Amino acid sequence: MNTTAKIIRQQGCFSDQSKEAYPSHHKRPNAAGIWRRKMNIAIIGTGNIGSGLAVTLGKTKHGVVLAGSDASSGPDAAAKLNAEHGLSLQGTDVAQAVKLAEVVILAVPFPAIAGLADTADFNGKIVVDVSNPVTEDFSGLAIGHSTSAAEETAKALSGARVVKAFNTVFAQVYADGLDFGDRKLPTYVASDDEAARATVLAIAADAGFDPVDTGALASARHLEPLGYLNIQFGYMLGHGTQIAPAWLSR
Ligand SMILES: NC(=O)c1ccc[n+]([C@@H]2O[C@H](COP(=O)([O-])OP(=O)(O)OC[C@H]3O[C@@H](n4cnc5c(N)ncnc54)[C@H](OP(=O)(O)O)[C@@H]3O)[C@@H](O)[C@H]2O)c1
Repeated sequence: MNTTAKIIRQQGCFSDQSKEAYPSHHKRPNAAGIWRRKMNIAIIGTGNIGSGLAVTLGKTKHGVVLAGSDASSGPDAAAKLNAEHGLSLQGTDVAQAVKLAEVVILAVPFPAIAGLADTADFNGKIVVDVSNPVTEDFSGLAIGHSTSAAEETAKALSGARVVKAFNTVFAQVYADGLDFGDRKLPTYVASDDEAARATVLAIAADAGFDPVDTGALASARHLEPLGYLNIQFGYMLGHGTQIAPAWLSR
């Protein structure tokens, strides 16, 4: 493993917004009634991103349950984060977490996703892929152009309503909150399932993101390189990890 890969592996990190507060310049979720619902969100993976998202989403109206690579990972991580942040996160195993949840966030490395199909039933679940499918040495992306990690996730997890989101946000950002001066942190959300995309846009807004609708799931072919560009800026070009890509408009 090269030095950059080692640094990236080692440096982890670690509100309730109304419909009216949703930014008008972004497409609004179109599935009526989804906005104000309290949902159960499972986060699979208790590492850097899983922990960061758990703390961020744990401060919203939604219920959060954590699960990891073995049965004790979720409960252990939930107990630790609850003690550190005064939250009420739950912890269980992967199968139970997925069963309990309406929305499942896969905070695991891309190569681990296909194997999750044997662990839990994702049929009908909104499944959020946050991955950047980097090569082992972080020198680039392992897949792209004609597919994406998100599209491969949709193929691997039968019946899952897959949404791409959160992949352009460094784990370290969650520790310091989502505000960058007078700008909120954007997250780019893509899915072929309109209601699933609307739901994740709403959850992202609840958490304090500036959620940006990026259309169909194939947009992940562009969002994953954007995530990789962010890694390049952050680690290879020395900008650090308190950065994120954002769009200008006027
Ligand atoms: N770190 C970032 O800044 C960042 C930013 C954007 C997107 N992402 C993406 O977010 C994902 C997670 O990255 P990370 O930095 O959080 O990695 P990480 O710190 O290594 O955490 C990965 C977690 O996944 C768990 N895991 C692995 N295989 C699993 C399985 N089969 N079932 C359940 N849990 C499993 C690991 O558990 P064990 O440790 O017990 O194996 C670990 O808790 C990756 O896809 C990455 O591309 C990361």
